[in-house]
Amino acid sequence: MDFLRSVDPETALIIDQELNRLETTIDLIASENYTWPAVLEASGSILTNKYAEGYPGKRYYGGCVYIDEVENLAKQRCAQLFNAEHVNVQPHSGSQANMGVYFAALKPGDTILGMDLAAGGHLTHGYPVNFSGTFYTRVNYGVNRDTECLDYDEIQKLAEQHKPKMIVCGASAYSQIIDFKKFAEIAASIDAFLLADIAHIAGPIAAKLHPSPIEHADFVSSTTHKTLRGPRGGLIMCKAPYAQQIDKAIMPGIQGGPLMQQIGAKAVAFAYALKPDFIEYQKQILENANTMAEAFIALGYRIVSGSTKNHLMVIDLRSQNCTGKEVEELLGTIGISANRNCIPFDPQKPFVTSGIRLGTPAITTRGFKKQETETVVQIIHEAIQHKNDPHYLTKLGQQVHDLCAQFPIYPELVQ
Ligand SMILES: Cc1ncc(COP(=O)(O)O)c(C=O)c1O
Repeated sequence: MDFLRSVDPETALIIDQELNRLETTIDLIASENYTWPAVLEASGSILTNKYAEGYPGKRYYGGCVYIDEVENLAKQRCAQLFNAEHVNVQPHSGSQANMGVYFAALKPGDTILGMDLAAGGHLTHGYPVNFSGTFYTRVNYGVNRDTECLDYDEIQKLAEQHKPKMIVCGASAYSQIIDFKKFAEIAASIDAFLLADIAHIAGPIAAKLHPSPIEHADFVSSTTHKTLRGPRGGLIMCKAPYAQQIDKAIMPGIQGGPLMQQIGAKAVAFAYALKPDFIEYQKQILENANTMAEAFIALGYRIVSGSTKNHLMVIDLRSQNCTGKEVEELLGTIGISANRNCIPFDPQKPFVTSGIRLGTPAITTRGFKKQETETVVQIIHEAIQHKNDPHYLTKLGQQVHDLCAQFPIYPELVQ
């Protein structure tokens, strides 16, 4: 950063301020994490300079000898991590990964059956204003009203009724285990493709703490920046017979030149994820989530679906007479980031919501364990109890600040 500070102090200052924000606030946004410094280095490297449309050994530009090496390294490490037959590491993001899969397997107008955004799904799983709901005919499944869990009988019925060409499983706000085998049986029964989007749970899957979809799904998509703790980006894994189709769909289908600096950074992240430490780290993420859910339950809160089996949970705030929007804003004032989230069958509008989604990847990365996680829950609870007492909230803000100071994220970057 020294060079940047000297040539563009204005941008450098903003980055320094963002670093300070990271260091001094508690991040409970379930889709965020702090990547390794070595990943940051690769992501900010000279690999950004190279145009490399195409794939290793078949580029449309000269000078790709080392670019090929780094992309092959990323592919090979990812394949080893997930036991995948074919990997494409070029998608710029999770959304592009999903777009690539649809472009490879579907024609415009074909039907996709995916999880409703309001029940925990993602925009790209068939939402009206997203490309997935504009180019394709969308049908959505939700969760069971009583259990708030996926209802596989209901999904089977919807599949038989609408005969989608593709079923999409995976979620952004679902805290139970996803039965990929069951999804594969449903897809097979109507001769549909199965896409498993593991953007959120890639870390636990890589660590074998959540069942893997690899042997069950035709296509698996993911982001690399959530539980996986890598750089911002996406990837697609598929069975060997679909390899060419997927590669063509990404380039020239929907993308041009790959972001080689991100692909280099993905290679570094996969190397970290292949180390035994990564399993311990993922275990700690899940333990912290479980600790958090139990602490909220002990204080009288309701967790959607009753518990968490992964890194996140959605808390129903109606018992506290609060909305998700209110609590998101309230927590912001004391230095805690989280996001409002619909609960299933939410009586509130999506901009307001009755829930808040909380996740533990980022706090685990900075070193929080059981005791700190319980403290965080206590702080959130007290903030809600004293939401109209600015003096009390200032005290809680100081507590957040002190806790963060004990667990620096990037000590080597702080000036
Ligand atoms: C399940 C799921 N799929 C895909 C995505 C899209 O990823 P990106 O934001 O990188 O486009 C997300 C992002 O939150 C997600 O939760």
